[in-house]
Amino acid sequence: MNLPTLAADAPLSPSSIQDRKAEHLRICLDDKVQCQEVTTGLEYYQFSHCALPELDFEEIDLSTSFLGQVLGAPLLISSMTGGTKTAQLINQRLAAIAQHYGIAMGVGSQRVAVENPAVTDTFAVRSIAPSIPLFANLGAVQLNYNYGLPECQRAIDDLAANALILHLNPLQECIQSRGDTNFRHLLPKIEALCAGLPVPVIVKEVGNGISAATAQKLIDVGVAAIDVAGAGGTSWAKVESERAEDQRQRRLGQTFAEWGIPTAECIVDVRSQLPDLALIASGGLRNGLDAAKALALGADLVGMAYPFLKAAHESETALSDLMAILLAELQMVLFCTGHRNLADFRAAQPLLRRQPH
Ligand SMILES: Cc1cc2nc3c(=O)[nH]c(=O)nc-3n(C[C@H](O)[C@H](O)[C@H](O)COP(=O)(O)O)c2cc1C
Repeated sequence: MNLPTLAADAPLSPSSIQDRKAEHLRICLDDKVQCQEVTTGLEYYQFSHCALPELDFEEIDLSTSFLGQVLGAPLLISSMTGGTKTAQLINQRLAAIAQHYGIAMGVGSQRVAVENPAVTDTFAVRSIAPSIPLFANLGAVQLNYNYGLPECQRAIDDLAANALILHLNPLQECIQSRGDTNFRHLLPKIEALCAGLPVPVIVKEVGNGISAATAQKLIDVGVAAIDVAGAGGTSWAKVESERAEDQRQRRLGQTFAEWGIPTAECIVDVRSQLPDLALIASGGLRNGLDAAKALALGADLVGMAYPFLKAAHESETALSDLMAILLAELQMVLFCTGHRNLADFRAAQPLLRRQPH
């Protein structure tokens, strides 16, 4: 008997990729695609309070550096969007706030622009954010679907990017109808990119997490940084279920809605195996306290997608308010644990303790 394959083979046209991007935005703005049962695991950690910080709050310094670039705070606006007019506006608002505070930013997958150069502008925010670390983005699996060095270089050039993020999304591709599910032999292709591109390559997940074993394989082929993008936040299985074209896609999305390695577990696991790795933590971080816990567990940079999307979609003011409060929350954690800067804070990791369940 000939069973149907997991993914049908008709390739997506540029316009259907654009439609998909628009749908992703609409669906992600709804709370119901956030994980419910699986959590980041950060709630099991608590800071030891310092009643006498011997510091002036005003002197708390959040500045840091990542892959050789200085940042005003250890924050990343995670890769999200591009390809439509709404996406362009969101990218422009995100870029403006990132530039204002000197934080890093990623854009959404640029596949739509590689295939339809007319939408390149919807990603191109370098003129708005001339000095921030700006990260290009493509799906790693595209390396098995005719993408190579030239397409990656294009994505980097279109953005004047400081690094290329390759995202890994095997679960999402399985659920999507016509998903790209051939993930074989990607490592040597990633290795060739790391050797051939003029900027560092970062690899991230999209909300299901990266284990230490996978991170090690990626580092061994020359990847410069890992973003664990763990479970506990936006669930791409839920997103794909919401936009299901048929019963099969809806069912697969529901079955795997809470799949993934919780973000806290990823950070601890990856950091213990790779002490010197440039490590980004993301996936379900929703405030500055979550961000501070991720940093204390070993992340160098913390990323958020959904909170920034929601605020940027609402207004520039909402985005600016969110940024100010995130920074205040981070500063408060440093202040109330008695640390003036991030280096001191990180060095004092033992102050973090696990709550009894
Ligand atoms: C609307 C939207 C679009 C996204 N598109 C991409 C993408 O194109 N490439 C990518 O690497 N990650 C993409 N992501 C995943 C995020 O970068 C992030 O890994 C994930 O949403 C988990 O973070 P969160 O829980 O803070 O939302 C997208 C997320 C959202 C909300």
